[in-house]
Amino acid sequence: MIKALVLAGGKGARLRPLVLHIPKPIVPLANIPFLFFQIDHIKKAGITEVILSLSYQPRKIIDIFGDGMNYGVTMRYTHEDLPRGTAGAFKAAENLIDDTTIVLNGDVLTDTSLRDVLQYHREKKADATIVIARVMNPVGYGLVETDADGRVQRFTEKPPEDDVTGDTINAGIYILERSILDRIPAEGVQSFERELFPTMVQEGARIYAYLTHGYWQDIGNPQKYLEATFGIISGRTKLPDYPQKACPPNNWEKHQVSIDSFSIMDGKCVIKDGVAIENSVLGEGCRIEEGALIKDSVIWSGTRVLPNARIERAIVGRQCHIGEGARLRPGTVLGDKSIISDFSII
Ligand code: GDD
Ligand code: MG
Repeated sequence: MIKALVLAGGKGARLRPLVLHIPKPIVPLANIPFLFFQIDHIKKAGITEVILSLSYQPRKIIDIFGDGMNYGVTMRYTHEDLPRGTAGAFKAAENLIDDTTIVLNGDVLTDTSLRDVLQYHREKKADATIVIARVMNPVGYGLVETDADGRVQRFTEKPPEDDVTGDTINAGIYILERSILDRIPAEGVQSFERELFPTMVQEGARIYAYLTHGYWQDIGNPQKYLEATFGIISGRTKLPDYPQKACPPNNWEKHQVSIDSFSIMDGKCVIKDGVAIENSVLGEGCRIEEGALIKDSVIWSGTRVLPNARIERAIVGRQCHIGEGARLRPGTVLGDKSIISDFSII
């Protein structure tokens, strides 16, 4: 049976300080733990057998998903005490895998039809199919070059800037034949991107690339996390099925505050007079005092924003305190429990 393996064991270092107390696979996106987006995406392809490959802070993830029953999937877990790299993580799941497998990076948000990718993989009789996406700035991704038929000619993981030739990148979704497991050592660390794929290309294995035209965005750093948030707010990509559907905010009076229709707020927020919220997300139990402005930003749960503070294009972790008249300028990222004193400029 076809299963999906989600690689969710990375440390998410580029999302620090947000991921110090919560692992990247479950950071809230639009107030929903991120993996729900992926599980929903996988289910849309009719796949209900999911393996989560964990290493960093596994407990927090397992506590949410358990056996998966509540979410309409069968969830299994593998756990590496020491991270074994992306290919090593696939190998670590070997005894749970009996067929062609869909492997997904745990930090990509996309509506690419996995059914279509599977069909393409079969038509090409590929050993591996890599979903690729066209992006404006391919620096910092895996570069994938193909021939006219879509067969991969070159895979280069994060080449230096002056070596970036194409604009099609590895979107972090693969269809892999089970036989590929035989190419990965039973012990130790191996990377799909730096080792296995380049070697397979050199050896003439049938690796094909499927170019997605759908929405695609990873959440690997604060800037990208904000982009993904805006993708959802603007409706370019959809919210998943989620048990506690976001409820409309109820603790504010419509005529005294300005909240644009695109913002997403948990119902347990308190919003005072004269507050303006534009293109932003507020987590559960935030309290926003008189005259504050929150624009193009994400604020996690339990944060308090004092009167006349201005927050623009920033990410604020859980239970922070933003002082009166303080200003968080674009690019600010605050970890949980940060305290910003009155009138500070960050
Ligand atoms: N289980 C396990 N073990 N998971 C891991 C390990 C590991 O040792 N290392 C990384 N992962 C998981 C991460 O949690 C993440 O979900 C995924 O594998 C990819 O790792 P990242 O650290 O996010 O890689 P990246 O963002 O630098 O680059 C990757 O993604 C790009 C697309 O977003 C590469 O696949 C690039 O080629 C690709 O373009
Ligand atoms: Mg990543």
